[in-house]
Amino acid sequence: MRVLVLGVTGRVGSRLIPALLAHKHEVVAYVRTVSKISPKVTAKLNSVVVGVGTDSAGIKAAILSNNCDAVVNAAGLAPFTSLYKKGPLPDIFAAVVKAAVDAREERGGPALRCWFMSGWSLLDSPKQPHMIMDYIPLYPVHKRNLDLIKTHSTDEIAWSLFCASNMPPKYDTPQYPRPTIISSPSSSIFRNVGELRGFIAADLEKGLQSELAGKRVGVKEKAKASQLVGMPISLVTVSNRVLGKDCSRDNEDEVIPLGIVRTRTMIKP
Ligand SMILES: NC(=O)c1ccc[n+]([C@@H]2O[C@H](COP(=O)([O-])OP(=O)(O)OC[C@H]3O[C@@H](n4cnc5c(N)ncnc54)[C@H](OP(=O)(O)O)[C@@H]3O)[C@@H](O)[C@H]2O)c1
Repeated sequence: MRVLVLGVTGRVGSRLIPALLAHKHEVVAYVRTVSKISPKVTAKLNSVVVGVGTDSAGIKAAILSNNCDAVVNAAGLAPFTSLYKKGPLPDIFAAVVKAAVDAREERGGPALRCWFMSGWSLLDSPKQPHMIMDYIPLYPVHKRNLDLIKTHSTDEIAWSLFCASNMPPKYDTPQYPRPTIISSPSSSIFRNVGELRGFIAADLEKGLQSELAGKRVGVKEKAKASQLVGMPISLVTVSNRVLGKDCSRDNEDEVIPLGIVRTRTMIKP
């Protein structure tokens, strides 16, 4: 697919590029500052569009002029609680959604396949129908984003939310300048961040046939889950284990649309 990616200079977005390329997707980067991408990486991109993530018309124009059929949003960062400054993520999310919906309407044809970075607090809690968010309202903007995206049908925008766990840096000390682009999966500077990129890139190969369209998506690592037998169900379990270390489709991990995630069953052998 030809994929418009927002947030390519960030921790997640920078790692998505090599994965998307490895899966033979064409990548159109949508960035605020072109100089933040290395020339080596720029050379592999289909094109680079300069713009801000809150500019819905600009994003729509990027989609249409580059004939993109998919979008991944990794731009903007969710604040930890509502006590923190709201940040740009809700506005970026809304702008990307509107851009994708409007682009489809203007172009006609099928919906765009869109992945949005989201957070683990949108995972289902063991007690249905509640989400973890309902008990501990961390990263509240993700819920707001979910409420917004659910106002659209998947015929308008074929969305999926990647409900990521925290992705702690591999290095104990901050790295300056912040590393942005990596050259191979093995050099990932984050223990956890690298895994989702292959997952999303692989799913995009399915296009609109993906079973994950219209879902919040979490990924668990089977091996890890089986180590948890007998442990009480806890949010720590959910946050650290539902999204395990390796989410690629090449191994034994299970991909779970969140509607069917049950922590209780996951921790059984
Ligand atoms: N990292 C984690 O542990 C983690 C865990 C769970 C979920 N997530 C989610 O994953 C997403 C990405 O996280 P991250 O860690 O990769 O964030 P990050 O490293 O802080 O990167 C943020 C990216 O957003 C871009 N951006 C910010 N404001 C923008 C705007 N107004 N217009 C265009 N681009 C803008 C930044 O571009 P500039 O370089 O121009 O500033 C940068 O590329 C977020 O939604 C986050 O909540 C992250």
